[in-house]
Formats: sequence, C-alpha cells, structure tokens
Amino acid sequence: MLSWDEYDESSANPQVALAATAEAEPAVEVPTPPPVQPEVVPEPPVAEAASVATPTPQPAPVAPQVIPETPPVEPVVVVAKTIEDLSVDAEEYQRVTVDQKRMINCRADLNQLVPFKYDWAWQKYQDGCANHWMPQEVNMTADIALWKSENGLTDDERTVVKRSLGFFSTADSLVANNLVLAIYRLITNPECRQYLLRQAFEEAIHTHAYQYCIESLGMDEGEIFNMYHEVPSVARKASWALKYTTEIAEPTFQTGTPETDKALLKNLIAYYCVLEGIFFYCGFTQILSMGRLNKMTGTSEQFQYILRDESMHVNFGIDVINQIKLENPELWDAEMQAQAKQMILDGMHLEIEYAKDTMPRGILGMNANMMAEYLQFIANRRLAQIGLSEEFPGVKNPFPWMSEIMDLKKEKNFFETRVTEYQTGGALSWD
Ligand SMILES: [Fe+2]
Ligand SMILES: [Fe+2]
Repeated sequence: MLSWDEYDESSANPQVALAATAEAEPAVEVPTPPPVQPEVVPEPPVAEAASVATPTPQPAPVAPQVIPETPPVEPVVVVAKTIEDLSVDAEEYQRVTVDQKRMINCRADLNQLVPFKYDWAWQKYQDGCANHWMPQEVNMTADIALWKSENGLTDDERTVVKRSLGFFSTADSLVANNLVLAIYRLITNPECRQYLLRQAFEEAIHTHAYQYCIESLGMDEGEIFNMYHEVPSVARKASWALKYTTEIAEPTFQTGTPETDKALLKNLIAYYCVLEGIFFYCGFTQILSMGRLNKMTGTSEQFQYILRDESMHVNFGIDVINQIKLENPELWDAEMQAQAKQMILDGMHLEIEYAKDTMPRGILGMNANMMAEYLQFIANRRLAQIGLSEEFPGVKNPFPWMSEIMDLKKEKNFFETRVTEYQTGGALSWD
C-alpha cells in the first residue's frame, strides 16, 4: 500500500507529475470535450428518461446557522499516567463542562464523552450505526454473469466499471488513513471522535465492498489496485488529496498557531469537501446510472450503500469545518477563504478531467459535458455549505435523479437544518 512518505508529487512517476500541471490551470473554465457520439441506450424506462430531462427545483443555498459561542474558559489539562492521576484528589482533577469543549486545541479531558456540546455529532454517530451494512449482503450473481458474457457490456461500460473500482478501492483507503493517522488526534472533542471512529470503520467497509466486487468479477486485482499509480486521471486525484495529509500527519505536528490550525482546516476541506464531496461524484453517477439501466445491479447496490454513508461523511465534515470557523473566526480570513474556494474549484477541475477520461464518448445516457455541468452544480453547493459564494450562478443539475438519491434529501447538515431523517434499520431506503 502506498504510504505518504512514498507518494511524493515530485517523484519520477510521470502521471503524478502531471498533477502539478493540472492544478496550476485555472479551474473556472470548463474545457469543452470532443463531440459526443449519441449513444443508443437500450430501452431506458420512460419515466426515468423524462425525469433526467426535467430539472427539479433546487433549494437556495442556506446561510450557515449561527450558534452562540460560549466565552473561552481556561483549559484544563488532564493527562493521567498513573492510577493516582485519576483520583479525585489529584491536583488537576476537574469534571468537564460543556463550556470547556472545543473542536480544536481543547485541553479538557477527552475521555469524558458527556456532557455533549455538539449534539449533531452524536446524532450522526447514531445514524451511521443505524445504517450499518456489509458487502456480502449484496447479491452479485447477475453482475458476474453479465461481466463474463461476451456481449454483456460495451468496452466503454467496462472501462467505467474498472476505473470506478480502481479509483475508489484506493481512495477510501486514503480517507481512512487520513482520518486515523492525521485528523483524529487533532480534533479535540470526544463526540466528534466517536463519529470519526464510526466513519473510519465505514471506510474499511467501503474498501471491503470494492474488493468484494473485484474478487466476484474475477478482475485483475493488480491492475485495479494500481490504477492510482498507473492511470493519470486517477493518480492526479489521489496525489492532490495526499499533499494535504503530508504535513499534518507528521507525529510532531501540533495545532495551536494560525498556520497549523489553517493546515488542519485545509486538510478538512480537501478531504470532506473535495475528495469525498467532489471526487466521488463522477464514478458514483456512472455506476448508479448503470444500475438504473439494469446493468451491474449488484455493484450499483454496493455503491448506493456507500453513497448513503458518504453523504453523511460530507455533512459531518462540513459541520466540523463550520464549527471551527465559528470558534476561531480569525482563521477564516480573506486569504483562507480564497484558498478554500480555489481548492474546491481545483477539485472540480480534476473531476471533470476524470469524467473526460472515463467517458470519451457518450455512455449510459450521459456524457462528459453533462458531467461537467453536474460538477459545477456540486462545486456551487460545496462553496455555499462552507459560507462561500457560488462560482457558477444558475447552473442546473442535469442528473436530478442523483439529487433525489443524495443531494437534496440526504445532504442536510446542522448548519442548514437539523437532520430529521435517518434510518432505523440497516436496509437501503432513500425515502
Ligand atoms: Fe468511503
Ligand atoms: Fe467517506
């Protein structure tokens, strides 16, 4: 497995070196892809085809809700090394109060889960547990038959399946490693850490799911798992995210200065708003579209479960980012805002390049131009969610069925509205 030490953007790896070039390009303009051959889609359901063509009303961006901040309280350090340190007679012993809790740079005892300060974090932990699922629960029989049949899928469709599994199988590892090795110790709040532990396990389940698909379909595992080295459009996305991990994953890294606090904030934006919030969208849309056309239905179902988890990951991350901004307003200066905006636009640009690479021709009722428009729509949403102005006013969502699945119904976070819907069981349900 790739480690951050091994993954150096300046390495001789030519496709990784391409990343720097791609990132240097302005991301605002969407390059026009080559003309798209109209694709003949065999008998798409009439109702679905109509729904794709009919934009649904989109909600206006909602300004972040302002939560009154409690006055700063002198931090308390409780680092128990011996049984005597834990005693009520210990010099530094003090029960933790809500006022002492902070998202970063909190020095109160992190072993005391309650009283909660961030109820939304605990709620998301519970929602994540209620949505528990495992990859083996999904029937892959039809996928295996289709994948192995001579004329079951076109070459372009096979490319989409392989690229998706190639990107996601390692991307979820990058997210999990970033959580466990970088973010976890720097988020100084126990209820948020509780969610991070749940998220980390979900990322393990996602990697498991991709491996389950790859194994079931009898794919060349070396080819799939090395795509993030060998396929430039995949490598660019992986290396873009990894550079935001490198600094804060250093064991000696500590927050507590404006520079280091901003480094953590940038990591959170990179992973939650861009990697999970943009880089997953082209592949998810392609595979779910395949499932809507009754192809690779088992793989599509696996992706739907993953998508449900991911939408909560994004919401959690955005809540954390907004809470850090609220508690540390000095960090969210004009420079930081400009950087955050550029990161989201750069991510969108890389995802559009990925769309062009995986869809050189129209496929599955979509093409790279439509995906570019969709990614502008998603970028607008990510910008608005962290309090920045939209970059593409008026852009419409060309895939309203995706919004029905996740954008509008599921992508609610505390700063927009309290989450009112969550699963009471493990079954997949979008309603
Ligand atoms: Fe994941
Ligand atoms: Fe995730």
